[in-house]
Amino acid sequence: MLSQVSQINAGSAEELEALRIKYLSKKGEITALFNEFRNVPNEQKRELGQLLNQLRQETEGRISELREQINDKCQMSAEKLDLTRTPDPIDLGTRHPLSLVREEIEEIFSRIGFTVAQGPEVEDDKHVYGMLNFAPEHPARDMQDTFFVEKEIGVQKPTDILLRSHTSSVQTRVMTSRKPPIRVLCPGRVYRNEAISARAHCFFHQVEGLYVDKNVSFADLREALLYFSKEMFGPETKIRLRPSYFPFTEPSAEMDISCNICGGTGCSFCKGTGWVEILGCGMVDPNVLESCGIDSKEYSGYAFGMGVERITNLKYRVKDLRLFSENDVRFLKQFESC
Ligand code: DAH
Repeated sequence: MLSQVSQINAGSAEELEALRIKYLSKKGEITALFNEFRNVPNEQKRELGQLLNQLRQETEGRISELREQINDKCQMSAEKLDLTRTPDPIDLGTRHPLSLVREEIEEIFSRIGFTVAQGPEVEDDKHVYGMLNFAPEHPARDMQDTFFVEKEIGVQKPTDILLRSHTSSVQTRVMTSRKPPIRVLCPGRVYRNEAISARAHCFFHQVEGLYVDKNVSFADLREALLYFSKEMFGPETKIRLRPSYFPFTEPSAEMDISCNICGGTGCSFCKGTGWVEILGCGMVDPNVLESCGIDSKEYSGYAFGMGVERITNLKYRVKDLRLFSENDVRFLKQFESC
């Protein structure tokens, strides 16, 4: 064993400490030999005692020698560090295209008197469906299936706490807390239980608009949306309204804009039609006004809701929706100058 002491080696402070423990600690191998010493016959004690002491001293010596070597190595690499060097420049991030477009929508509508209102993403059934005139078993609920929140962890009881499936829920929050005239824009994230594919997106962003006052008409809605479309997509933009159905508006419509990629002549983006759908809208159903405590004989209103991803796709011709949530800087950097 004595002859092996010089071969003890360690590359790091941690390895060295492990060796110290292995040989010299209370339960170490050399300490164990000392413990055995009392069983050695008296006539051998002198010789063996000397050998044991020599073994312990040489091992301690080798360990401190290695400790010095390791310390020297660390010091040398610290000396090589140039603490005066200018640091690598930090790459500043850019605004996300969805934020840019959301802000542009807010800015355009602010010019015609809309202010921004917010509501919670974790909502209840009443504000997302009930007060918006969705009957309990109506199929319109299936089109907006969402995620339900367990009230107690692990207990899957039926619950009315859910992630909002549209920003229309903010309408009900605003209408119950303010008196008309109301002119708000409600941007935010919404959730859908889309089981189409593993890569399908279960959240996206919407901007909702609501105007409630005396004598609000469908013509007011049309004018506001035409103004928005021209500001957003250019003065040549045309709009068309097609009849549709939403539980919370009556009448309801879907709005298309003339395809801003081909200018309305027909291309693959607009599937040859010259038009692309961008939002849903309509006159606020009197039942909704009443459920929020607003007298529907005195007041009327219009509402609309659009997807921010869709508007961004059109504005910047982004072909793949997944790019919005992948955080790939090669994509995001392209919006630096926008
Ligand atoms: N909430 C609808 C959706 O998520 C969009 C919408 C349609 C909002 C018509 C409205 C509206 O305010 O009037 O599909």
